[in-house]
Amino acid sequence: MVGLVRPAEIDDAGAIARIHVATWRTAYRGMLPDDFLASLDEAAYAERWRRILLEPSSRVYVAQGGEGVVGFASGGRERAGEDGYEGELYAIYVLDEAKGRGHGRRLVQAVVAGLREMRLGDMIVWVLRDNHPARSFYERLGGVYVRMQPITIGSTLLQEVSYGWKTLDAITY
Ligand SMILES: CC(C)(COP(=O)(O)OP(=O)(O)OC[C@H]1O[C@@H](n2cnc3c(N)ncnc32)[C@H](O)[C@@H]1OP(=O)(O)O)[C@@H](O)C(=O)NCCC(=O)NCCS
Repeated sequence: MVGLVRPAEIDDAGAIARIHVATWRTAYRGMLPDDFLASLDEAAYAERWRRILLEPSSRVYVAQGGEGVVGFASGGRERAGEDGYEGELYAIYVLDEAKGRGHGRRLVQAVVAGLREMRLGDMIVWVLRDNHPARSFYERLGGVYVRMQPITIGSTLLQEVSYGWKTLDAITY
């Protein structure tokens, strides 16, 4: 079905890993070294996602286009002890060829429904500082800039910034 977002099942781990690796390679080209991006191992990610999907507390959702699974997102309890935030959007990735069709918005809606189920009333998300398209997406959804901090990915030192919504009702879909 086109435009459907549903909770991910264990059998989606392979598709999620494929999207994870493909979108990292396009979204982070120029930010992370080519050899690092080339070395991302789909099978290892599939195993990691399988483990995540087996955790009863995990909230992972996939977006389906006519061509199958084209995006995924996950969220849950805020992980790093950020003051003032209990909920977090951990990851959201939509294949390049499926961008701009509302999958990202619907995936955020699904994660937010998951946060509400967990009685979490706000949301923070971290994004690489130079990932301008994703930052624009969060700004479009009403995210308010919180702060910047360094992050090491592989052996590359980068900066990441966070956007927050003090209440889930403040998300401007
Ligand atoms: C960021 C991302 C998840 C957005 O998903 P998407 O399916 O393309 O977004 P949608 O089609 O649902 O767009 C929802 C709204 O955000 C806006 N938007 C999306 N991308 C945007 C951009 N780059 N610049 C400005 N607005 C943007 C859309 O225009 C739309 O608003 P509108 O209806 O008023 O026009 C997707 O582009 C992506 O996966 N990017 C690469 C990976 C990535 O960087 N992930 C985030 C890591 S932190």
